[in-house]
Order: sequence, then structure tokens, then C-alpha cells
Amino acid sequence: MIRGLALNLYERLYSSVIRPHLFKMTAQDAHEWALNQLTRTDDSFLAVKFAKLTQQLTFARQLTPVGKLQLKYPLILAAGFVKGMGFASEEEALKAVNQGINIIPGWHMMPSLVGLVEYGSFTRYPRLGNAGTVIWRHPEDMSTQNRFGLKNPGAVAAAEFLGQRLNKLPPQYGINIAISPSVDDESEEIADIQEAAMAFLSRNVYPTWFTLNISCPNTEDDPSGHQTHGKTMRLVKALVEIVDPIPVWVKISPRLSEEQYVALIEATELAGGEAIIATNTLPMPAPNDPHLMAGVGGGCLYPYAIDTVKILMEKKQMLGAKIDIIACGGILSHEQYSAYSQLGVKAMQYWSALVYLGPLAAALISHKANRNI
Ligand SMILES: Cc1cc2nc3c(=O)[nH]c(=O)nc-3n(C[C@H](O)[C@H](O)[C@H](O)COP(=O)(O)O)c2cc1C
Repeated sequence: MIRGLALNLYERLYSSVIRPHLFKMTAQDAHEWALNQLTRTDDSFLAVKFAKLTQQLTFARQLTPVGKLQLKYPLILAAGFVKGMGFASEEEALKAVNQGINIIPGWHMMPSLVGLVEYGSFTRYPRLGNAGTVIWRHPEDMSTQNRFGLKNPGAVAAAEFLGQRLNKLPPQYGINIAISPSVDDESEEIADIQEAAMAFLSRNVYPTWFTLNISCPNTEDDPSGHQTHGKTMRLVKALVEIVDPIPVWVKISPRLSEEQYVALIEATELAGGEAIIATNTLPMPAPNDPHLMAGVGGGCLYPYAIDTVKILMEKKQMLGAKIDIIACGGILSHEQYSAYSQLGVKAMQYWSALVYLGPLAAALISHKANRNI
């Protein structure tokens, strides 16, 4: 009752006051504004306390089984929001950590407010990401589009930063590791992801799950190259070897062939992975330069993502595979949430809903979905 009233009030406030105000800015300015607020409030005792109380009031706990885990909510903030600043070198990134700079804006506030968060993607070495405008919104179909290009502080500095804050890390969270673009040799790729994972574990940063992102569309690499049976199996196995018993999830692309999805299920299962996240964004021409590709999420991605999930659920059953499928793509209301649930999906991830529904997106969607059951 109180939860319903609070969420109703929040929804009205967000849609009539906050969203129109944010949408007067470009998507990029609004994104940077939000990250600045998070940078300022991550270390504020009062702000974090208020965020946690808001989460308790608005988000109903719902134990969600995924692999060997019991997550406390079915909705997870997907990788790409709490991913940290970009740096030109590991030395610079570590210097910033040692100077006390908040290199991962939102690391404390976002999980306090929204519950489950997947940090990253982090690559072995820092990346500055792409220059210029890198994020857009398309309100007509509630989509986002981005070509961040895996901007991040690198695994070592991210791990050092989180390792210095162990007692404040959330009770459950994920870390997403992406293969460094431009590393072509497979043995180097394996070393790259293993070193990235070790950077966290060696600093006692033990996430609830690791995600291996083999599908980033916004870099100089073609992600479909990673998503073959043999290569996926070897990469996942290499990560499982290092992080076991922490579960490994694998994040894949939309719009692959049915054969490729069968191969990805088999490879993930054989290599000891626990779940597949479907999907990452879909590459489309960037609004400011049709020669460049930028990944689309939200409403425009939804038909492709749900198609992918449908195929994966069918093939998983056909193969008798045990891995779980985690839906990601266009979850913007309880309707998409319910459509994925009806396919048998239990856990889901979202990113674009943050833009269109605000920080309490997950609480709002899950509240409405549960009311409609
Ligand atoms: C600005 C932005 C940055 C992203 N960065 C990452 C990333 O670093 N790693 C990753 O695995 N996915 C990344 N994603 C993809 C999201 O995690 C998610 O898969 C995608 O947006 C689809 O979900 P949605 O339809 O709810 O937006 C990013 C998405 C956006 C919008």
C-alpha cells in the first residue's frame, strides 16, 4: 500500500518534472550531469542512507534463482552505467585512485538506490573510449544509442578502487569483463581476461558473479568474431578456471543465426558458464555519422532481444541444457517484463529504462508486474 503510493508519486514526479528537465539537455549532457551527482554523493553518508531507505520502501524483495545463486531481486542494472572514467594509461588511473578521486561514479549510490548492479565493462587496460558525442536518446520509441567504445579505468585501477572500499560494497553485485579490442591472438585474449579477473580477486574483490562480455558492438573489433563455438568455449573456460566458484555469465549479441545461438548455449554449458545474458545493444548507424556504428538499446532493441531469448529458451530445452537465460533488451515497463517472464526467464537486466523511468525504474517495473499477476 505505502509502496504503491510512494511509487505512484515518484512516477508522476519523474515523468512530469524531472524527465522533461533532463530531456532539455542532450543525452550526453544529462548522462554527464547524472555521473557528476553520483560522484558527489557516493561518499555522502546521508545521501547513501536516504538511497537505501528509498530502496527498502519501493523495491519488494523477490528471491530469484540464477544458476547457483539466489539474487534478491529479479532486475539488475546492466553493465555500462557504473563503469568508471576513461584513462590513457594504467599509471594515470592508479594515480587517480591514490589521490582519492572517485573513478567509478555511482559505485556506492547506484546499488544503494536500485539494488543489483553489474559494474563495468572493464578491460584489462584502461581505455579512453570514443571521442565526441557518444550517447543519444530516441524518445519516439524509448531507445538509447551509444558508442562509448568501452571507456573504462581498466581492471587493475577499478579493482584497486573497489578493493579500498570492501566494507561498503553491496551484498550482491556483478563485474563485467570485456575482451580488450585489438587483441587478436587467442592466447593473448585468454591472458587478458584472466589477468583482468585476477586483478579483482587478488584485491579481495569477490563479486557475486562475473560476466564475460563477448559482444560489445562499439569498438574497432567485430564482436561476432568472438561468438563462435570454439572461441566462446575457450574464453569462458579460461575465466571459469580463474574465478571458480564464482559463477560466470556470458553476454551475447542480438540477431545472430539460430545455429550460432545453439553453439553459444553448448559452448557456455560445456565450459562451465552458468548463464547467458541476451542481449547487448544492436549496432546501427550513428545519428551524427552514418559511417559509424552505435549500439541501440531500449524500445528499438526489444523485438530483436525477445526474438533472441525465444530462440535461446527453445534451443536450451531441445539440448537439455542447464544454463539460465537472463533477458536484457527493451525492458521499459511491466509489459516487456511479463513477456520475458512468460518465456520462462527469471532474471533480467535493463539500462535504457533508467533514462525513461529514472532511478527507480526496476522497483516500478517489478511492482507493476507483480500487481498484474
Ligand atoms: C551508454 C551505454 C553503455 C553501455 N556499455 C556497456 C558495457 O560497457 N558493457 C556491456 O556489456 N554492455 C553495455 N551496454 C549495453 C547494456 O548493458 C544493455 O545490454 C543494452 O543497453 C540493452 O538493454 P536496454 O534495452 O535496457 O538498454 C551499454 C549501454 C548503454 C546505453
